[in-house]
Amino acid sequence: MRKIDIFDTTLRDGEQSAGINLNTAEKMEIARQLERFGATVIEAGFPASSPGDFEAVQRIANTVKNSTVTGLARAMKSDIDTSWEALKGGQQPHLHVFLATSPIHMEYKLKKTPDQVVDIAVEAVKYAKKFFPLVQWSAEDAFRSDPAFLVRIINQVIQAGATTINIPDTVGYATPQEYGALFKFLKENVTGIDRVKLSAHCHNDLGMAVANSIAAIENGADQVEGTINGIGERAGNAALEEIAVALHIRKDFYGLETGINLQEIKRTSQLVSQLTGVVIQPNKAVVGKNAFAHESGIHQDGMLKNRETYEIITPELIGETTAPLALGKHSGRHAFKDRAITMGFDLTENQLNEAFSAFKKLADRKKEITEDDLFVLFTGKQIENANADIYELTNVQVQYGTSNVPTATVSANVPTGENVVIATTGAGSVEAIFNALELLVKGQVNIMDYRVTSIGKGRDALGEAVVNLRFNGETYTGRDISQDVLEASAKAYLNAINRKLVKDSVKVAEPVSQV
Ligand code: KIV
Ligand code: ZN
Repeated sequence: MRKIDIFDTTLRDGEQSAGINLNTAEKMEIARQLERFGATVIEAGFPASSPGDFEAVQRIANTVKNSTVTGLARAMKSDIDTSWEALKGGQQPHLHVFLATSPIHMEYKLKKTPDQVVDIAVEAVKYAKKFFPLVQWSAEDAFRSDPAFLVRIINQVIQAGATTINIPDTVGYATPQEYGALFKFLKENVTGIDRVKLSAHCHNDLGMAVANSIAAIENGADQVEGTINGIGERAGNAALEEIAVALHIRKDFYGLETGINLQEIKRTSQLVSQLTGVVIQPNKAVVGKNAFAHESGIHQDGMLKNRETYEIITPELIGETTAPLALGKHSGRHAFKDRAITMGFDLTENQLNEAFSAFKKLADRKKEITEDDLFVLFTGKQIENANADIYELTNVQVQYGTSNVPTATVSANVPTGENVVIATTGAGSVEAIFNALELLVKGQVNIMDYRVTSIGKGRDALGEAVVNLRFNGETYTGRDISQDVLEASAKAYLNAINRKLVKDSVKVAEPVSQV
């Protein structure tokens, strides 16, 4: 059966979207999960864009074994050198180098003539091939490029040594028919196209990213690129879990396989949502919480008689199994450890001990600890070390009455090592807390977005707070979980501040130039 490679760019194009900022430990956690998910290629970041990205790409390349790890580079030697330093420890060093080819991008953004663009692309690919056995070249804004120019430049980059050619619909403008026709045209007109991998990369501005990717496959694409949950700039990228499930469920029609481990979809989706703070719309295909819910009486009746009356995808297919029994305060360490292993977590003895004592504290306050609670707890432990608490909340107290002015008192350990206490007022409890924290961190903070959701069901469910804020000119998202939403909110606020401070402090050695 023809195999379609899945190229995951959650950690690059996905992470590039507004307000998402993952630290290295979180990126590592997602990369490991993408490896289990079965992505053929994982784009771990853009090494030359920041020291933090460099560090994350390097660690992922040195760790992941079953997927090829790549990084993005502009068509310039310094980017390629930096990327080589980050990626050279990988199993099969792979570089993704891009250059825009549409008239509007060449004229206004690059300020280059088409001839110059061809020369730069060829030079970059030749240079990259000195180091990397695998070089993917992307024609940014390919869909809005002149097809004859695409043929010309692709002919030359293939001759220069590119092993994959990617044809992005950067602005999400294509229709499936047009995008498919472009692939057919390139297949018929580019010399040596059958010697390289041909790749599709679709954005979702008109809601057609998945359909366009599939149209590309039908017309010769060997690889599709996208992200988990479809996250990404603007309206996002093609959702990989949707493509994988569509090709699986309609194998009778497409006759293709992807090598994706469908059973890992639920978990991958949940992890990406939890760590990025991007909620999954309830009715989203495949992974939305209502994707398998049947509300209408007629549907429920049909389902009881035969599930196939209304169900084309089973929850089991994507790894959504019936939750095993919840744990409670009488559950022992053995049962707890067993559950961590069954859920696929690989915690050290130390992490397990810490997780167990957090579990016991939680079990004192919450009757049943569900699978969702455990997922959050185990994931949190696995990435905890990197979430350095530069500001650490030690206490929060709020006085609120419908006819009083809300007052918050917060205590926190601050970078100087002192414990500082600040009290102030606000129009509501949360505002009072945020005002006190703003005084604590001594910077200008604007709240861009704030959300509280429950993890699982029930009145004693854990509350998760996500705070998206601008601190000293940069946007960061922080999150935290607690049984009390006010405490979770205060911690999420400081988590966002800490992320910025950690990012500011990351330093890596200047990469050695290969020139
Ligand atoms: O959308 C796009 O064109 C990209 C390229 C960098 C591949 O993400
Ligand atoms: Zn893109």
